[in-house]
Formats: sequence, C-alpha cells, structure tokens
Amino acid sequence: MNCVLEALQFRFACKNFDPEKRIPQDVLREIMECARLSPSSFGLEPWKFLVISDQNLRERLRPHCWNQPQITDCSHLVVILARSETVDADSPYVRACYERKGVSEEKIRASLERMKKYQQEEVLPRMSLYAWSSKQCYIALANIMTAAAAAGVDSCPIEGFEKDAVDRTLGLPRDDLQTAVMVALGYRKGEQSPRFRHPFEKVVEFIE
Ligand SMILES: Cc1cc2nc3c(=O)[nH]c(=O)nc-3n(C[C@H](O)[C@H](O)[C@H](O)COP(=O)(O)O)c2cc1C
Repeated sequence: MNCVLEALQFRFACKNFDPEKRIPQDVLREIMECARLSPSSFGLEPWKFLVISDQNLRERLRPHCWNQPQITDCSHLVVILARSETVDADSPYVRACYERKGVSEEKIRASLERMKKYQQEEVLPRMSLYAWSSKQCYIALANIMTAAAAAGVDSCPIEGFEKDAVDRTLGLPRDDLQTAVMVALGYRKGEQSPRFRHPFEKVVEFIE
C-alpha cells in the first residue's frame, strides 16, 4: 500500500520536461504493460495506445494541443485511443472478446444480449460509444501515471487539444479509433507548479 501512496505523492502534472532525458525502453514497456492490464467494462479493452517518440509527428501535433510544450519536450507522448463503433454489442470485435474465453455459444449469446440491453438502456441514452470507451481509457490513463511515478518517471495528463485535428494528424479512421486523452511521460526540469488538494474530510464521507 505504501508504495502506491508514495507513487501518488511523487506524481504531479509536470509542465516542464527535460527534453534531453529519455525513458529507457524496459521502463517504458513496464509502464505500458500496466496500461494493458487495466480493467474495462465487459472486458472489451476499448483502447489502443500510441507511444510516440517521433519528434516530427509531435511537432505537427503540438499546434493542435494548445501549443503545450510538454508535447514536444517530454520523452514519450502516449495518445490513448478509444474505440467507438467496434464496441457495439453486435460487432465482430465484441463477439471475438467473448469467444476467446472458450465458453459455449449459448453463453456467448446470453452475454451479448445482456450487453446489448445495457448499451441500449444505460449507455446510449446518456452518451456515445466513444464517450463510454473514453471513460474506460481514463482508467488506463491513471494506471499509466501511477506506474510511471512508481518508476520515477514524471507525467502530465493532457486533455487540452482539438480532437478532430489531432485525429486527422494521426491519420485515424473516422469511424472507430479516436483520441480520448493523452499523457506526456519524461523527467521533470526546473520550476514546477505547486499542488493543491481539498482537505480529506471535505471530499471523503464515510457512511456507516
Ligand atoms: C483529464 C485531465 C486532463 C488534463 N489536461 C491537462 C492539459 O491539457 N494540460 C496541462 O498542463 N495539465 C492538464 N491536466 C493536469 C491538471 O491540471 C492537474 O492534474 C491538476 O491541476 C492537479 O494537479 P496535480 O496533477 O499536479 O496534482 C489534466 C489533468 C487531467 C486529469
């Protein structure tokens, strides 16, 4: 427990990265493995992770990301893509997620029916499939940041971007994978902003 708390105390939204420092490949792979192990609704893993070190691509992305320096100064920029159409209960992708469990056709059909009902009654009246997937991408985002912190790597979550322009720059197909959120990873340099938090009692209520 202490190591998680320590990692969370170490983590802050890093605004100034050292552009000279690179994350070693084995550390990067471990951080991304923590992303891959993230939980997802119905186990659909509605994401893909682009781990970008290509400086040219990052320079083309930066103007669409409020010109934030983290985009080009960090060691690696992780763009988390959310699935949209392919997480529809009727899609072959969803069926394949169930088939890999090696359960009977009857069980697969029952699970797909339950998911379809859930999507129709609980998800789609409130949000798009893209938004539903994005919510889950944020779990992976948190795991990436905590794993990075545990490895002494700094991070900055980034939602400040123009999604359509970013999707176009990344050459994403319009109908499925779309940018949900990004996270810059690297090593801090120089002055950083202080952190603020509400007191524990203000945000945590025990109901016994
Ligand atoms: C979903 C999300 C999106 C964010 N987007 C940005 C961003 O685009 N640029 C930035 O500098 N910080 C961004 N932040 C960082 C927050 O401003 C920061 O987490 C918050 O002020 C708390 O500070 P701390 O993370 O240092 O504790 C984002 C944070 C989250 C969780």
